[in-house]
Amino acid sequence: MTELSILRGVVELRGAVAAWRSAGESVGLVPTMGAIHEGHLALVRAARRDCRRVVATIFVNPTQFGPAEDFKRYPRDEAGDAALLAGAGADLLFAPALEAVYPAGFATTVSVAGLTRHLCGPHRPGHFDGVATVVTKLLLMAGAARAYFGEKDFQQLQVIRRLATDLDIPTEIVGVPTLREPDGLALSSRNRYLDPEARKVAAVLPALLQDLSGRLAAGASPAPALEEGRKALRAAGFDKLDYLELADEATLTPQAKLGPPARLFAAVWLGKTRLIDNWPVPATR
Ligand code: PAJ
Repeated sequence: MTELSILRGVVELRGAVAAWRSAGESVGLVPTMGAIHEGHLALVRAARRDCRRVVATIFVNPTQFGPAEDFKRYPRDEAGDAALLAGAGADLLFAPALEAVYPAGFATTVSVAGLTRHLCGPHRPGHFDGVATVVTKLLLMAGAARAYFGEKDFQQLQVIRRLATDLDIPTEIVGVPTLREPDGLALSSRNRYLDPEARKVAAVLPALLQDLSGRLAAGASPAPALEEGRKALRAAGFDKLDYLELADEATLTPQAKLGPPARLFAAVWLGKTRLIDNWPVPATR
């Protein structure tokens, strides 16, 4: 296993990346909040395939958590995470302290309009501003050729693509397919909050999305199919449903009828744990 160096400061990170790039080595960036699982490692492996060097970051970003959300109890295990990242081929871990990212006097917010109007946007006020701001900073700090994000958080991925384009950030944003458990549940740091009972219910979400996707592709009318889907999620034991929608992949606007590249999106609750997932809907033939 390669030895992973851990850097805390922006100047050191810039120095390391600049040295690699001037030696002609391409650099891939994988931002995370830690609690590393196979889904994160899939991003590291994708970066490893494309780039000579891989920089992973761990920063539990307070500005993307709502006041009632799990910032305080978010799982933190830097040593364990570092070992997993090294095993998957990361060369460097950037794990800054809070003050290195948000020094005293910090006053700038990056806010992406449009894409954040629907789905998670209205349910998590301020969340995407927090994500967009920290990701902009990480992209500018690292100066990598490519940065890797999961389709698991599809709305986040589209927001990041938009900000990189709009702000002329010269890093290619690469989307990586969702890694799932054998029963279909998307890997997530928050799955560890689920007790065995809730864990069983959680697997209904991807199964329902997959089934609904097939029915829509076969010509089912979206509005009644979605309503049935919502009822089925409630009946399966989810405590609350934030949304189940069919939306345009590019604009993330909910669609009443199956149009060009469409995807199903859902956010559900099991107790205090919020789970999100999404599933592509192939065009009707
Ligand atoms: P985090 O939830 O730690 O996720 C880090 C990256 O891993 C994100 O790009 C996410 O989409 C990806 N990921 C998570 N689970 C995945 C899975 N099952 N399959 C594939 N990729 C998966 O997302 C964040 O952190 C933060 O918002 C961040 C972008 C780091 C900004 O703070």
